[in-house]
Amino acid sequence: MLCDSYTAHRMNPPAIAIDGPAASGKSTVAKLVARQLEYTFINTGAMYRAIAWYLAQQGISAEDTDAIITVLPDIPLQFGKEDSTSTVLCGGRKLTTELTQPVVNDSVSVIAAIPEVRAFLLQKQREYNKNEPVVMEGRDIGSVVFPDTPFKYFVTASPEVRAARRAAQGLTDSIDERDKNDRSRSCAPLTQAPDALLVDTSNMTIDQVVQLIISDIRIKLAK
Ligand code: CDP
Repeated sequence: MLCDSYTAHRMNPPAIAIDGPAASGKSTVAKLVARQLEYTFINTGAMYRAIAWYLAQQGISAEDTDAIITVLPDIPLQFGKEDSTSTVLCGGRKLTTELTQPVVNDSVSVIAAIPEVRAFLLQKQREYNKNEPVVMEGRDIGSVVFPDTPFKYFVTASPEVRAARRAAQGLTDSIDERDKNDRSRSCAPLTQAPDALLVDTSNMTIDQVVQLIISDIRIKLAK
């Protein structure tokens, strides 16, 4: 695994931060980068989605911030990993298709704007990198979760390309609305960290994006 000499003179193993708007291709790219480097892949969107799903199950509205803050410490979610990929369990059951239910798509960005929710997950996200290198995908990974990592990538694509990619996945959720919420919230908004490499994937193949990011990581690891 490419990281031993890097870790030797730093506190934590490498953390690769991949941020970007919905349907920019960042999930696919982040998974492939993680696989090539043999790092653990962490999907932070799934963590926010799991909270949104749990609240919907309990009949707690995404607008009821006080109730959400009250139940937060008692939500029976566990954040683990399996086959080098993060997992989310609720009461011991692994959540998969639950996380893309319409009720979750509609409420997740409202819930993700609550500072207490973000602080709760921030701690869990950082824990993943205590003992092992990670590729972490999200909205605020380079700006807030790992502000000191030199490995930051902001993956984007034109609105037309993103809409087409979402439709090709057979999904019809309103990514524009979610992106608007994510960019405009005051706590940890979706933003390109000043030192992140901007990767516009509109006219690139997945393989080209992965190779671009991997070569940048290799150059930085060798320094
Ligand atoms: O559907 P898509 O893969 O684009 O999104 P996701 O990564 O599953 O994230 C779902 C939602 O969670 C986002 O729209 C944000 O509201 C929130 N999120 C966030 O606020 N911060 C993160 N680091 C990751 C996700």
